[in-house]
Amino acid sequence: MIRFSKVRSESFTGIDDNDLERGFLIMCGIFGIMTKRTDIPIAKLIREGLQRLEYRGYDSCGLAMANNGTIEVRKKAGKIADINKDGLFDSMQGQYGMGHTRWATHGPPIDKNSHPHLDCKNKVAVVHNGIIENYQQLRKELTARGHTFRSDTDTEVIPHLIEESLAKGISFKDSVREAIKYLTGAYGIVVMHADTPDFMIVARKESPLTIGIVPGETCFAASDIPAFLPLTRQALILDDDEMALLYKGKVEIFNVITGKPRTPKPFQVQWSIDAAQKSLDGVEYKWFMHKELHEVPRKIKDQLRVPQEQLDAFAKTVMAAEHVYITAAGTAFYACLAGKFQITKFGGPYIEALLCSEFRDALPTMPPKSCVIAVSQSGETADTIEAVRYAREKFGAKVCSVVNVQGSSITRYSDNVIITAAGPEMAVASQKAYCTQVTALTIVALRIAELKGTVPKADVAKYRVALEKTVDVTNEILKNEDKIKQLAETLAKKQNFYFLARGLSLAAACEGALKLKEISYNHAEAYAAGESKHGPIALIEKGFPVVFVAPPDETYDRLIGNVQEMKARGGTIISVVAEFDTKITEMSDYTIRVPIDNDKYAIAMSAVPFVFPLQIMAYFASDFNKLDPDKPRNLAKSVTVK
Ligand code: AGP
Repeated sequence: MIRFSKVRSESFTGIDDNDLERGFLIMCGIFGIMTKRTDIPIAKLIREGLQRLEYRGYDSCGLAMANNGTIEVRKKAGKIADINKDGLFDSMQGQYGMGHTRWATHGPPIDKNSHPHLDCKNKVAVVHNGIIENYQQLRKELTARGHTFRSDTDTEVIPHLIEESLAKGISFKDSVREAIKYLTGAYGIVVMHADTPDFMIVARKESPLTIGIVPGETCFAASDIPAFLPLTRQALILDDDEMALLYKGKVEIFNVITGKPRTPKPFQVQWSIDAAQKSLDGVEYKWFMHKELHEVPRKIKDQLRVPQEQLDAFAKTVMAAEHVYITAAGTAFYACLAGKFQITKFGGPYIEALLCSEFRDALPTMPPKSCVIAVSQSGETADTIEAVRYAREKFGAKVCSVVNVQGSSITRYSDNVIITAAGPEMAVASQKAYCTQVTALTIVALRIAELKGTVPKADVAKYRVALEKTVDVTNEILKNEDKIKQLAETLAKKQNFYFLARGLSLAAACEGALKLKEISYNHAEAYAAGESKHGPIALIEKGFPVVFVAPPDETYDRLIGNVQEMKARGGTIISVVAEFDTKITEMSDYTIRVPIDNDKYAIAMSAVPFVFPLQIMAYFASDFNKLDPDKPRNLAKSVTVK
């Protein structure tokens, strides 16, 4: 008999189970243990391992333990420590098991969407990190064949697919392999079977999966090394399209597609837990900020997968409004500047950008049929919440939000939400959140263009391809980050900076200046380049650093004039230019060259590629100045006071 323990039916967010949407996961922590040892508290070790993975996500969690042919699941929305306060997880019994700590990106973090998920017979349990893109179709087919789903997650199709093959008499191993062949998207999974006590199965594609081994005794499966680090230092990394059978101290790896085996060659992990938490793809970073900058390309890639119905609902609400405002604070506000520019440029409505702290003063009254787009990493910024509530409750405005934390306050005051794919951002200074916010708003802009027909369909497709290419462009920038580091070290001791740009790039200039200010403590101001001669130019003297964000777009020729003005007065010119740039390059003392294609589509998608080097530069300046970029003085990750 299986016990399926659902601890409480309401979620910590206050959202009722009936409000469920689907539950995708992009950044989560998974941890499983298969061991010979009978003298260790397996459930407690899983729970502790999950806590070491909470930097990957922490909105809900769960454990599955196999106990003499049954699987017990306990899962719930909330943080592990709170849920386990009375030993809910630690008291679980069993010979092997696994757990999951979740960071929901679509759908509220509520009990039933928490992992692990089971098949109909409660014999197969699965934890998953990633996105199954074709889950709706699979779910439809499985439901038609009589399967009952207990959550709205994409993940739950996996145990049911495995169940189907098992029912045909196919082995556990081949059933998992069969199921994987149906999946499109990204996954790191651990699968266990109640009646197969000798091994559990792991597999991955695009989502991370590591294995820890105590030879001849225990195997661990985890989405990241910190989970098992106090238990073993011998580790293996699973490659894409690989599957592994984890026995009690032995691993068999093979390719899912070809079936070809690979001899496991474990390596010795030298890191501390702290260092392991700051590592990515086997590289150890000194600070979370540096690690998170290196996550940017994959986070943009994840962001490109905004579910169509979410995107359409968002775009249609914006299009239906007669007056559109966009609001946020700090970095998120600069994402608004880029987003507003893109939406209007591609034929969407004119949008007024207002700082959330100024919102109600700027708008003592709001016209009917207004829509407010709110952008926030935390979803808990007090000023943003106030602006949203003011617009919604006083004037009946529609609220569309772009938020990184599912279930946060702003999502609850919103009619439509796009969740950004940044995952938890540990560094106080936002970087990957900004890049995903801008990407999300650009996707909205392109969808509005498509729906309104303001841009030919074929062109929208080309802009979309160019947007997808920002994944490669940001990867290339990271490969050459040493050049940015050198420049940062040259400039790190300068006391004052200007960041100048026009049009879309003004957002990048603002973000570049803010980043430098907040983590390296250099005084940096951003201005619209055309505005600089109306006052700011008075400060320019020999050696004053002026950073120009200069993509080759429609503002380029006018920007040249501004570069000349600053240069003529002795300013040191630092420019962020396209790789193929010549004119501004010749006038600059230093350049950061961005590897974009020389066509109108790539140039129109310059918002992220041209800001990213400035975020990297701020990071290296901070490090060079021996500061802590993860916890800059006087700043908090989420500003919950007005
Ligand atoms: C970003 O680097 C800052 N720490 C800050 O400006 C931040 O963007 C702002 O407080 C808004 O926060 P939110 O995105 O969580 O709403």
